[in-house]
Amino acid sequence: MASSNSHSQASRSNYTLDRAAQAPLLKKSSFNLFRELAYQHIGISIKDNRLERVQTRLRKRLLALNLKTFEEYYQVLNERADAVELQEFFNALTITKTEFFRETRQLEHLSKNLMQPLLDLGQKQGEKKLRVWSSACATGEEPYTIAMMLQEAIAPAERYQWDVKVLASDINTIALEQATRGSYPAESVQKIPPHLRRIYLTKDPKIEGEEETYTVNEVIKQWIAFRHINLNAPRYPIRTQFDMILCRNVFIYFNEDTQQKLINRFYDLLNEGGYLLLGHSEFIQKTTFVRESFNIYRKPSK
Ligand SMILES: C[S@@+](CC[C@H](N)C(=O)[O-])C[C@H]1O[C@@H](n2cnc3c(N)ncnc32)[C@H](O)[C@@H]1O
Repeated sequence: MASSNSHSQASRSNYTLDRAAQAPLLKKSSFNLFRELAYQHIGISIKDNRLERVQTRLRKRLLALNLKTFEEYYQVLNERADAVELQEFFNALTITKTEFFRETRQLEHLSKNLMQPLLDLGQKQGEKKLRVWSSACATGEEPYTIAMMLQEAIAPAERYQWDVKVLASDINTIALEQATRGSYPAESVQKIPPHLRRIYLTKDPKIEGEEETYTVNEVIKQWIAFRHINLNAPRYPIRTQFDMILCRNVFIYFNEDTQQKLINRFYDLLNEGGYLLLGHSEFIQKTTFVRESFNIYRKPSK
């Protein structure tokens, strides 16, 4: 018994060794090519010290396509410009970390001091209409958070009069699928204040052996449209003017030129008096926006 155990342990460790020995290695020169490709298409600048992370993430694509080397994979992306695989490449390289009510202090400031001006902005033309864009929404926690905050800000008796739409977009199609489902593990919905959780989410029926999940209710979902939009694309498929745009925790992946290009586009896409929200470590250097607190910027009225 003991010998068969040690035999299987030995073969298991040989197997691990064999796998590691066979795993393709990403050369620095190929790493640079992949970085350049990602930059050209989606504008992200991958740092020098990220070779191992890129290697780990792209190895899965090599395995899926039955390719032996990263150089072959680069050919698929670059020379064959395989659109489906390019999307897989973006999915593999983007970081979709997010959470409900992320950057609490910024959102508290929005809720206490800017919600009324925002609602006033929505009523300017004699109608009650708000347009919001969560422009790198990842798995959806950000637009759902904003939609819950807007629901709370509008008096219940007035909600039916309001026309509210939140465009929520991202480059990562896997994240967008989860966002559209709107179903989250119990642990991640803990970030939602309990009274809002009770109103706006429903516990899913328990499935034996699976973790507890909650789904966002239709009253919130109906305000949100999820779309695939590349922030680095030459043009956006958008005809709306917004009252608020969120572009949080994605600027850090863009260089200064790309950031400036996006700031100018957001400026044009905002109504006068509209707000732009960036992440906690994201600042605009040159801008015609008015600075509010907590990395919130306002487009001035003429
Ligand atoms: C770290 S998440 C931030 C999510 C959310 N905004 C937040 O603050 O919690 C960054 C997101 O930016 C997206 N992203 C990166 N490059 C993009 C691009 N060129 N166009 C659209 N989305 C992009 C990624 O797919 C990812 O979901």
